[in-house]
Amino acid sequence: THSGTLEGKTVLITAGPTYEAIDPVRFIGNHSSGKMGFSLAEEAARRGARVILISGPSSQTLHNQNIELHKVTSAKEMLAKVFEFYDRIDIGIASAAVADYAPKEVAKEKIKKNDDNLTIELVKTPDILKTMGEKKTHQFLVGFALETQNEEENAKGKLEKKNLDMIVLNSLRDEGAGFKNDTNKIKIFTKTEKKEFDLKSKDSVAKDILNFVESQLLK
Ligand code: C5P
Repeated sequence: THSGTLEGKTVLITAGPTYEAIDPVRFIGNHSSGKMGFSLAEEAARRGARVILISGPSSQTLHNQNIELHKVTSAKEMLAKVFEFYDRIDIGIASAAVADYAPKEVAKEKIKKNDDNLTIELVKTPDILKTMGEKKTHQFLVGFALETQNEEENAKGKLEKKNLDMIVLNSLRDEGAGFKNDTNKIKIFTKTEKKEFDLKSKDSVAKDILNFVESQLLK
């Protein structure tokens, strides 16, 4: 089923964490594995799409040789890479767990262990998906939300604020959902619809997400 259903479409997917350098040997990062994004890339490729996968540091590997993998490190690099392709994509799926803040300055040398306290000033990183939303012309944009409170409200707020067509909510309250797990439990929202799914493998979740995207493209 679903083979060739994305034939002729170009899908861009962001995945993994970003690493924000503190000095030449240290960074601020997070525990994102990149699994959800890599599963989405594999499934989109299986359906015949041209797939551009832009991933932060992740140990995931790809089976499909046709996926165009671009490895980046920081949020800034991810933003720049996304916009090399943005005009030519049909579908954009932002599954990356982008760092929200990065050190204002990267120390040129390794920071020495001297004082008892060390302060590192952080500044906001660019919001990649929000920027995609602002520049949207024809692209169908999908975002993810990982919330711990007022989840549905916050997810729907992001749908509006980032000018998305669809948002996938994974709840941290559900056992086995989100981040490092092999499984995920999601709810999908568009401006007018809501659909809840059971806990399943990230490969199966990728199928559900792309089925939903395809159903929206037909509208
Ligand atoms: O605002 P929040 O980080 O909760 O939004 C999550 C969604 O936005 C995810 O789809 C994530 O990939 C995307 N995002 C992004 N760039 C950021 C922060 C989040 O693309 N700097």
